[in-house]
Amino acid sequence: MNARELREKFIIFFESKGHKILPSSSLIPKDDPSVLLTTAGMQQFKNWFAGNEEPKYHRVATVQKSFRTSDIEEVGDATHNTFFEMLGNFSFGDYFKEDAIKFAYEFVTKELGFKKERIWVSIFEGDDEVPRDDESEAIWRSLGVIDIREFGREDNFWGPTGLEGPCGPTSEIYADDVEIWNLVFNQYYMTQDKSLIPLKLLGVDTGAGFERTLARIQNKESIYDTDLFNPIILAVEKLSGLKYKEDEEKDRIIRIISDHTRSATFLISDGVRPSNVGRGYVLRRVIRRAVRYGRLININDFSSIIRSVVGVYEGVYDLNIQMVYAVFNEEKDKFLKTLDNGLKVFSRELHVQRDGNIFSGKVAFDLFQTYGFPKEMVEEELEKVGIKLNEAEFEDALVKHQEISKAGMSDKFKGGLAGTGEMETKYHTATHLLHQALRQVLGPEVKQAGSNITAERLRFDFTYPQKMTPEEVKTVENLANEKIKENIPVLCATTTVEWAKKTGALGLFDSKYGDKVTVYTIGEFSKEICGGPHVTNTGELGTFKIKKEESSSAGVRRIKAVLE
Ligand code: SER
Repeated sequence: MNARELREKFIIFFESKGHKILPSSSLIPKDDPSVLLTTAGMQQFKNWFAGNEEPKYHRVATVQKSFRTSDIEEVGDATHNTFFEMLGNFSFGDYFKEDAIKFAYEFVTKELGFKKERIWVSIFEGDDEVPRDDESEAIWRSLGVIDIREFGREDNFWGPTGLEGPCGPTSEIYADDVEIWNLVFNQYYMTQDKSLIPLKLLGVDTGAGFERTLARIQNKESIYDTDLFNPIILAVEKLSGLKYKEDEEKDRIIRIISDHTRSATFLISDGVRPSNVGRGYVLRRVIRRAVRYGRLININDFSSIIRSVVGVYEGVYDLNIQMVYAVFNEEKDKFLKTLDNGLKVFSRELHVQRDGNIFSGKVAFDLFQTYGFPKEMVEEELEKVGIKLNEAEFEDALVKHQEISKAGMSDKFKGGLAGTGEMETKYHTATHLLHQALRQVLGPEVKQAGSNITAERLRFDFTYPQKMTPEEVKTVENLANEKIKENIPVLCATTTVEWAKKTGALGLFDSKYGDKVTVYTIGEFSKEICGGPHVTNTGELGTFKIKKEESSSAGVRRIKAVLE
């Protein structure tokens, strides 16, 4: 079975089970500032699961473009990649555990032909807050599955994506010890302070990693051996004159170039453009890594690799090849110019700017600032010679740089992301002002519990036990307007989670963030982790007006506000 057949089989199967087949959403999430990129099939349905919107359908299935950056450093080995597709079926208040498990098992064993001996499953073992999933266990047993293992929160509980959202216990299907399908039983809404609020509408969110499942079906060791990657790897082989699977180190390079060119092609086609922040930074990193590894095996022109990617997805996704060439090449040329200079300086500094086996973080930052020589590349170069980077010094230099930006000398880290509406951008910044104003007026126990932005208004949910008085509402409004009038620059910096936490940025500190976060600072007033986009100065916002303060759910208040 090839990739196209697997997609088709999945769609036909779930259509026959009464599901509406919906198209993949963009890799740029709509209305969800808490995540940079679409990481799962459920994301476009977050509001349906959360009960914020009436579901249009109660049974849906999709093949969803997804992107995860948490593994980006590991790309190169045989299993990791950045862009992937996810097969998913969803129920919004329709079926629950029984059908979800039965559908998945039938599809895996009958349609995909996995022998029962290759399969084992897992269920949630239970903890203080969420009971053990006896129900799923009984359903698996009724189907004749014997190998049922149980795990805790780490493995058998999923979500939310971003800072908050629907989540719940999971049951997973493994084939040859590789997890191929995750069945999430959405029972809770997790707020930013990590409390679990039971959802009114029970939901099912399943996700089967497409590439992995395909590799299992085709009995291939790796996703890179499937028909999804064969033509891409072939293009890399042709350009470099190398043969895949002859040399482990070269294979790593070939896989990095294949994965990153593929993911850049998808990001660019969905409208992402290289920049130093947010999703633009993700794109910049994958292009620059592809280019750098390309140089190692004499690849300078990526056109035929891009063409091979587009060929693989012909008729499946609309990939804008001309746009991909243009954006990729522009970024490549920019990078090559600076890279040459950067490498020269680096080699010169390598043996000068170090203290024993530690390389100066300040010099590394200067290399990044001046030559666009990314920190991860400094680290890779250092690793080759067994030297470590002085991380703390690097972070210090980054913060100092922000201070300088604040004084208006550089705008490298300023600004928001292109491609989002002007009003939405304004509302993102207004939300930060509102959040901080609420904390100042009502106290630090105010925590963000949800946020939703349209071109017309912002909506902000936050934890607070009682209704706000009209005076409190007025004071919050006035405070936000005061900050608007002060014309404060909004600064943006990409940094590590640790650093953001240490410097007091608001946000939920857990692994969901990945290794880098974007922090927006509004003078002394507000500092918050966010995916943006934001205006560059509060003065652009106009007049802030709270239209409504009401209850959202137990212990959670909701404010709707506009900019006039
Ligand atoms: N949302 C779950 C996951 O990403 C299932 O789709 O694994």
